[in-house]
Amino acid sequence: MLMNTACAQDITLPTPCMAGEKSLSMTETLAKRHSVRDYSTRTLNSQEISNLCWAACGVSRDNEHRTAPTAMNRKEIRLFVFTADGTYEYIAEKNLLQLKATGDHRPLVAGGQNFVKSAPLSLVMVIDFEKFGAQDQRAMMMGCVDAGNVSENVNLYCQSVGMVTVPRATMDINGIRQLLRLSDKQLPIMNNPVGFPKE
Ligand SMILES: Cc1cc2nc3c(=O)[nH]c(=O)nc-3n(C[C@H](O)[C@H](O)[C@H](O)COP(=O)(O)O)c2cc1C
Repeated sequence: MLMNTACAQDITLPTPCMAGEKSLSMTETLAKRHSVRDYSTRTLNSQEISNLCWAACGVSRDNEHRTAPTAMNRKEIRLFVFTADGTYEYIAEKNLLQLKATGDHRPLVAGGQNFVKSAPLSLVMVIDFEKFGAQDQRAMMMGCVDAGNVSENVNLYCQSVGMVTVPRATMDINGIRQLLRLSDKQLPIMNNPVGFPKE
């Protein structure tokens, strides 16, 4: 658990650190990757959240590049973290979770699929067409592909380090838009509930 609601605030994450992390080889990860919809009650600590967000779309070889590629390097996919305590935006350049809303808003991510509420955390990918610089059909296609890249990074990272996840399109898009005060230039497109395997 990151914190309790009473003191929900921005969170500076520890520096992403893979040293000492037990991870599978890429080929084993690819062979074993599968969707999981059942989670243990174990929550992620702040180091695990930092590593997960970094794997999703963190700063990679320099400030201008991310672990997930985007069309023309527009970096238009914004990542939101829904926990039992609050909802945050991951600010990759600062390795920061910026508080957007206190309280448990995971039901908005569930969108009717109840298993999602039992995942300690859900990542929601939002296409930001303002960042992309266009909102036509091609921009929509590129945004969907780029969100898929982020989601697949999460799928593979989780499989590699013993976390479990499932890529999803189901969610309460309008509810999430309202919660995050998104404009019609920002579209929630994919999500990944993340946790640990049920014992
Ligand atoms: C774009 C996309 C959307 C998906 N949406 C959902 C969803 O809303 N709910 C869900 O339970 N699974 C969803 N899935 C997961 C697929 O059902 C799952 O990946 C597929 O059955 C293959 O299983 P595997 O991931 O174990 O290989 C989605 C997967 C993708 C790629």
